[in-house]
Amino acid sequence: MVAQVIDGKAFAAKVRAQVADQVAKLKEENGITPGLAVVLVGEDPASQVYVRSKGKQTVEVGMNSYEHKLDVDTSEEDLLALIDKLNKDPAVHGILVQLPLPKHLNEDLVINSIDPAKDVDGFHISNVGLLGTGQKSMVPCTPLGCLMMLRDYHGSLSGMDAVVIGRSNIVGKPMAQLLLGDSCTVTIAHSRTKDLPDVVRRADIVVAAVGRPEMVPGDWIKEGATVIDVGINRIERDGKNKLVGDVDYARAAERAGAITPVPGGVGPMTIACLLANTLTACCRANGLPEPEGLTA
Ligand code: GUN
Repeated sequence: MVAQVIDGKAFAAKVRAQVADQVAKLKEENGITPGLAVVLVGEDPASQVYVRSKGKQTVEVGMNSYEHKLDVDTSEEDLLALIDKLNKDPAVHGILVQLPLPKHLNEDLVINSIDPAKDVDGFHISNVGLLGTGQKSMVPCTPLGCLMMLRDYHGSLSGMDAVVIGRSNIVGKPMAQLLLGDSCTVTIAHSRTKDLPDVVRRADIVVAAVGRPEMVPGDWIKEGATVIDVGINRIERDGKNKLVGDVDYARAAERAGAITPVPGGVGPMTIACLLANTLTACCRANGLPEPEGLTA
């Protein structure tokens, strides 16, 4: 079998176009412009790239972007004061604090100080609990993007065997909750899992979110399975820098029914879903119907 390539770049462009349409309608019919505030503490180069990209795409879909760049030694008190101000600002519908934070700041405390209704990352403990109990919540962007691609490819996921490799709060755990919500039988695998190859070989859906280059060999993949590769790992091969996923793409593509490439798979969906979440938060804040197809 030769896998169908799931084109995340094209899918993300479609999601952004849907968001842009809805934003235009909101402005015209309700006089409301959704606003996203992004807070970056320090000068981590990768975080700076992400934040720039988020700001650019926010403006491109017609939303307001508010960037707050704070000094690396900003105190917790000052950061919490800024979040409090953003929580109270009616022009701000979504708040994202870029992680990781410098070591002297308590990440849990900071994230949990964001108004859950504005927590477009879905990291606040209230949103984690709401998702876990199947209630309306803000859903973390990367797993939401994976779910959208799976639903688009399969239609219904009901009854499918899914394995999520990785148990992070940002991807693995919420991904498992979303798959369970769509009636998959879900296994969360991690570094202590016994016989991981066997677990993966039984799965109709494999979501790899570990951050270890090509740790899933192609021959673990069941014929016809769908592979969603969340990993983005920079490696050196043949003297060149290269981006690879957590799955050995070339070998896995010979067995899978469908697979996301790296780059151009899950990656572009994350920011697209952040914009979708900001739109959703804005609609909820204003008592308007939520955008269709852009939520879990
Ligand atoms: N750092 C890396 N990924 C993310 C993300 O999805 N959200 C935030 N806030 N920080 C990140």
